[in-house]
Amino acid sequence: MTDKYTQFVNRGLGKDIAKKLGLSQPVVLRRHRPGQPLVQGPVLVQGAGSGADELAATLLSWNLDVRRHAVPREKLGAIILVLDEAARPEDLEKPVLSAAASLRDLAANARVVTVSRAAAGTTDPATAAARQGVDGLLRSLAKELRAGATGNGILLADGARTTSPSALGALRFFLSGRSAFVDGQFLTVSSEAGHLPADAEKPLAGKVAVVTGAARGIGAAIARTLYRDGATVVVVDIPAAGDHLAKVANEVHGTALQLDISREDAGQRIIDHAVERHGGLDILIHNAGITRDKLLANMDQGRWSSVIAVNIAAQLRINEALLASEHFRNSPRIVSVASTSGIAGNRGQTNYAASKGGVMGMVRATAPLLAAHGGSINAVAPGFIETEMTDRIPFATREVARRLNSLQQGGQPGDVAEAIAFLASDAAGGISGEVLRVCGQNLVGA
Ligand code: NAI
Repeated sequence: MTDKYTQFVNRGLGKDIAKKLGLSQPVVLRRHRPGQPLVQGPVLVQGAGSGADELAATLLSWNLDVRRHAVPREKLGAIILVLDEAARPEDLEKPVLSAAASLRDLAANARVVTVSRAAAGTTDPATAAARQGVDGLLRSLAKELRAGATGNGILLADGARTTSPSALGALRFFLSGRSAFVDGQFLTVSSEAGHLPADAEKPLAGKVAVVTGAARGIGAAIARTLYRDGATVVVVDIPAAGDHLAKVANEVHGTALQLDISREDAGQRIIDHAVERHGGLDILIHNAGITRDKLLANMDQGRWSSVIAVNIAAQLRINEALLASEHFRNSPRIVSVASTSGIAGNRGQTNYAASKGGVMGMVRATAPLLAAHGGSINAVAPGFIETEMTDRIPFATREVARRLNSLQQGGQPGDVAEAIAFLASDAAGGISGEVLRVCGQNLVGA
């Protein structure tokens, strides 16, 4: 589960050898540590108009070192490119080329964030062209950035402002080390719901969160991250994983619930446990998942049905129970773990990709149902993550898979957990029905 190559090329001799041979040189990514500054260096806000001015004023109130004009050769921690007023493709030129002049001044692990309007919000062809153009621009720029720097975008739906609570929440997430392995992605802010936490280090204080499949891997990392962020955590896994589950529960000072999530009564069991032990339920993370890979030509019924049962049918049934429960009504949040396989497809994974594509469809259709209670539901789609699962992939295949993204390395379970913790927080309350990829911007597939 360790990426020895990345460790090697970041040390003296390894660095020299990689440079001489022209080998890829993935950097050690800046990841969130409590107490760390949001960005490392001044933040340049490019773009004209009231949206850019208001955003720059808010960043100043966060005590960031904000620039409205570049200072030549000054190392920058971030560039924020505000394009919310772009009404024609030509309008992109001035702010984009101004930002371009500063790209060489970005520090290692810097951030570029675009803030623009969602193309779906207009019927005017020229405006739609300008807005959709930002999509292509940002995704291409993210592929050009180097040394751990990332590029991501915030899309404002009709009515949302550059300073809407979740626009600011998403901006903080993208600027911070919490989004280290999120690259070339967009989040759409669709409502004014949500608010920034009083304590930025404890955004989940007072919340009760349930994490399924938490005995190991990504699920255990999610439990640790939610606990770090202030939540009371219930960890769920199958009885056979009981020992590991108990260890994770102890570590996060939470409680363990041994439960097969594909059981008919799983939803009710989860609610009963959370209410009896912790007085309520605010957050559910659907992480438990299985793979039973086979080419479709060789697929048997057992492999197909078990993957669908655990990865999507169980989530649908549990959500139904939660939506019907009076205990899940206080700005409830659900985050589901999908996969880039469900977006781009993966050979040998028709069953898995059908289940993960299903998760994304489910999330989109469930969003309006949760909105009635001020709630939200989103999915996170991980790419190559360094876990026991990916450690079993043969060396050569694994080495290719983990390098084929803009950051030239695999992600850590904690990277997926950070994205989930953000989407489970009130800072993301105005973001719902979305899929956020945590894949370092995979170069192959969608
Ligand atoms: P893992 O196999 O290490 O952990 C999954 C956990 O879910 C295990 O503890 C298992 O006992 C539990 N589980 C399985 N069936 C269950 C059931 N019926 N009821 C309760 N618990 C159950 O997997 P990993 O790698 O941590 O993956 C977690 C999630 O992330 C899964 O949904 C997976 O599909 C997804 N994912 C993982 C990627 C990776 O690179 N590792 C990439 C993309 C998605």
